[in-house]
Amino acid sequence: MLKIAPSILAADFCNLEREIQRVHTGDWLHVDVMDGVFVPNLTFGVPVVQSIRKHTDMFLDVHLMMIKPAHFIEIFAEAGADLLSVHLEAGNPVEIRAALDIMDRCGVKRGIVLRPITDPRAVLPYLERVDLVLVMTVEPGFGGQALMEHQLETIRQVRGFMDQYHPECDLEVDGGVDLKTAPKVVEAGANVLVAGSAIYGRPDPAQAIADLRRVCGG
Ligand code: DX5
Ligand code: ZN
Repeated sequence: MLKIAPSILAADFCNLEREIQRVHTGDWLHVDVMDGVFVPNLTFGVPVVQSIRKHTDMFLDVHLMMIKPAHFIEIFAEAGADLLSVHLEAGNPVEIRAALDIMDRCGVKRGIVLRPITDPRAVLPYLERVDLVLVMTVEPGFGGQALMEHQLETIRQVRGFMDQYHPECDLEVDGGVDLKTAPKVVEAGANVLVAGSAIYGRPDPAQAIADLRRVCGG
């Protein structure tokens, strides 16, 4: 089932409640947490996730672009995240496993993320115990970049691994998804599409969401 996840990174942060309302026809709300170390940009942290939770029932898909994510899993879970995803490059395997263990304990859905540079085979040790794999189709840190076409091959490979080891796992794609690229990533095997500028950059975000579904045949 195709899911559209509007990214609030492209929203007007001065009026988040209104901005979230404008994308309420989306399936998930994608929330980008950046620490200024793992990526060269800063966004927001726990208090903002807590406030968002008070104002929407949407499924909160929280993408952690930070080092040492294990330390923050419980706090973000308590703040109201429904799914947390950690970058495989953000720690060593022991730290990644620790982060997933804490997600289990807190009852949030578990995601792992791959930067464009990372070999798709890196997901294999974790695949059977995660709910989602997020394949980045841009270098993480900024919205509005063009999708890296070579990542279509990564999506294909990850989908192949899922077919083999965990068919119910979601495959999310983040970065440069728009009306032109969305059908390509779906064809390659993605079923959750994050979109920031392609949704908030349009005068009518609800129409943008409907258009994304339409071009993907959903
Ligand atoms: C980038 C973020 C994305 C961002 C995507 O590092 O992880 O979620 O919002 O923005 P667009 O859709 O504009 O590429
Ligand atoms: Zn993101």
